[in-house]
Amino acid sequence: MRYSQIESWMKGIALTYWNMRLWLCATIALMAGAAQAQSATTASRGQLLYDTHCVACHDAQVHWRAAKVVRNWETLVAEVRRWQAVEKLQWTDDDIDQVARHLNNMYYRYPPGNLAQRE
Ligand code: HEC
Repeated sequence: MRYSQIESWMKGIALTYWNMRLWLCATIALMAGAAQAQSATTASRGQLLYDTHCVACHDAQVHWRAAKVVRNWETLVAEVRRWQAVEKLQWTDDDIDQVARHLNNMYYRYPPGNLAQRE
């Protein structure tokens, strides 16, 4: 019968289509999972600290505005120190250093200087 032949042919296509969709969904989910796992393991301590305590007020724009306060590694460290003090976070020199490095990697790209100065 020609009609039933066409019908089963159509069903075949529909099935293939569904299988492809399922396969695609699974692949995307897998890829998203892998990307997340990777970024979770590569997130530095500086990034974690910054993301937790600092991004609430400013987005990335503040770090490349024209009137920027930060002009080199030293002023970057000074700003991070100032802001963690504003937020009463009591970061150690190492924390300040890690966050300054994170921001430097992300936005500023100054030649990194010495570790945050001990005071
Ligand atoms: C209460 C809101 C707020 C929080 C919280 C905050 N900032 Fe800021 N930050 C600002 C504003 C507003 C500016 C821009 C004006 C200024 O420099 O005073 C700024 C500017 C900066 C700059 C200088 C940007 C440039 O290139 O000139 C740095 C660096 C910075 N913040 C780091 C931090 C860090 C690190 C933290 C977390 C400890 C933090 N900020 C938390 C509001 C905030």
